Amino acid sequence: MKNIVILISGGGSNMAAIVRASQREGWRGALGAKVTAVISNRADAGGLVFAREQGIATAVVNHRDFPSREAFDEALAARIDEHRPALVVLAGFMRILTPAFVARYEGRLVNIHPSLLPAFPGLHTHQRAIDAGCRFGGATVHQVTAELDHGPILSQAVVPILPGDTADALAARVLTQEHLIYPRAIAQLLTAP
Ligand code: GAR
Repeated sequence: MKNIVILISGGGSNMAAIVRASQREGWRGALGAKVTAVISNRADAGGLVFAREQGIATAVVNHRDFPSREAFDEALAARIDEHRPALVVLAGFMRILTPAFVARYEGRLVNIHPSLLPAFPGLHTHQRAIDAGCRFGGATVHQVTAELDHGPILSQAVVPILPGDTADALAARVLTQEHLIYPRAIAQLLTAP
């Protein structure tokens, strides 16, 4: 059985979509993979409740408890490695990771970002897409490399930006697409030769 560890900072709806997909008979049978842990840098991350309800191990590694990014990433990696994951999935994990952390999980670290990368890395992606007059927004699943919100693209979903759209309305429409493409991209990655 391949283990998946998911890192979250908030509501964890992408994590929940991945967990639900992984509970389907086909997914388990075909991939032989399951979500073994959900780890958050925030104790109040809503997604932790869902994970616990599903009987998944949870942990909190609070970045505020550490004097540096390096020390936080070391502690985080120690918790992750307890599960010997084939894949580490960032799902709304709002921390910048150190190059050492990224190197440690090279080839088995993925992220979802709420824009059509390489457009709009960083924060406030939906407002920036609206302000730029883009006709389409979306989301990107990508391998994580040392450069923030870069790395080989695994999947994208394109969502039209409607006249009068607000960032919140667009974010909600993009999020429903994220829930579709993220589990699918993970399944493809885990079955790739
Ligand atoms: C998602 O839209 C995800 O793409 C984004 O945060 C949201 C998390 O939602 N990620 C980033 O902005 C990463 N830089 P969720 O907690 O409900 O999955």
